[in-house]
Amino acid sequence: MNKVFKVGLIGCGNIAETYFRAQKYFNNIKIVKCADIIHSNAIKCAQTYKIQALSVKDLLNDQDVEIILNLTIPKAHYQVAKQALLSGKHVYSEKPLAINFKDGQELIKLSKKKNLYIGNAPDTFLGGGIQKSKELLEKNIIGKIILGSAIFAFPGLETYHPNPEPWFAKKEGGPVIDMGPYYLTALVNLLGPAKKVSGRIVEGKKKRTIGIGPKKNKTFKVKCPTTYLSTIDFNNGTTIRLTLSFDVIAHQRNHIELYGNKGSMIVPDPNMFGGSVYICKKIGNPWLEYKTDHMPLGRINIKSQSSRANESPTNANYRGVGLAEMAYAIENNKRHVCNGELSLHVLDIILSTMKACKLRTPQLIKTTCKKPDLFSMKELKKIMK
Ligand SMILES: NC(=O)c1ccc[n+]([C@@H]2O[C@H](COP(=O)([O-])OP(=O)(O)OC[C@H]3O[C@@H](n4cnc5c(N)ncnc54)[C@H](O)[C@@H]3O)[C@@H](O)[C@H]2O)c1
Repeated sequence: MNKVFKVGLIGCGNIAETYFRAQKYFNNIKIVKCADIIHSNAIKCAQTYKIQALSVKDLLNDQDVEIILNLTIPKAHYQVAKQALLSGKHVYSEKPLAINFKDGQELIKLSKKKNLYIGNAPDTFLGGGIQKSKELLEKNIIGKIILGSAIFAFPGLETYHPNPEPWFAKKEGGPVIDMGPYYLTALVNLLGPAKKVSGRIVEGKKKRTIGIGPKKNKTFKVKCPTTYLSTIDFNNGTTIRLTLSFDVIAHQRNHIELYGNKGSMIVPDPNMFGGSVYICKKIGNPWLEYKTDHMPLGRINIKSQSSRANESPTNANYRGVGLAEMAYAIENNKRHVCNGELSLHVLDIILSTMKACKLRTPQLIKTTCKKPDLFSMKELKKIMK
């Protein structure tokens, strides 16, 4: 039986609900205490889940807590993760690792120096959809991947989010920091590390109007680009065109398509865990469907829209598997999948994409990482209830 790690949650917002639910699926994590910069958020969370609310400082110094789960907002990830490591605790943060490259680099160095684990979302690439795609690619079914395309595009979240301003902030706003982590982590998992990015931005709306909540009809200024068209070259020779936009009303393109010299593949949504993979090997032939809804991390587990977390109904969502896998790795003294090297490389691609597009100057990616291995059923079974 696995050791059950005592987890202290910092940042009791929308996504916290998803991580509490993860305790139903994984056998080695238990959120025992929580804290938030707004203490009333921690108290509410503690009451809902029958745990203890502490101040952030007290949680960091708590002797019981072994791993800090950092679900704060992106610009606070660095500070909270650093404090966790300095307090002698392992840390697992939501995406992205940090919003500055040097902060991300410092966190990885600090975790090594302290001999502590640092883990980072997204863990969606461990789900059925991306793992099935990886398995088929590794069987060489569509041959060598030459090129591909990926897209996340929607109108922006001011219509349904009561506090949308941070997504349009100068430094940490925009679709690359917000949605890039899912697409780029999935692509690195499928293709290996990236080496170069180029691109451009397209001007979007300069002002937006909040659609719901107490600030309904209030207009605010957009302080960052909201559409990025980029081209990423991977070390393995694949070139991917990536569109990330908060300026598109609707589209019908697939999330990710990969084109190999023996066929083409449609990869399901990297923001979710399930979805079918489709393959076509000959022009005019039907696309063959490879379902993932029988896989442990592809099975639909969300049947109704939660009022708090941003989860679609009829979807597979097993966020938290990365945290459980990290806990297992700590216990067994092995390398974890959602590791610092991977998240720093993804942060590097994110920031290089934004720079390359804003300056219209290609950027070389400074970091690299080991391409993750297929996440085997054997490993998964060890941490699933
Ligand atoms: N909401 C989603 O559906 C979703 C999905 C996937 C990932 N994420 C990621 O999860 C993270 C949190 O998102 P969210 O939607 O829960 O945000 P949120 O704004 O609802 O919650 C964040 C919480 O962190 C607290 N906080 C902020 N700075 C802090 C600090 N320095 N110390 C302690 N507490 C602090 C806030 O008071 C708030 O309660 C983000 O990184 C986001 O990108 C969110």
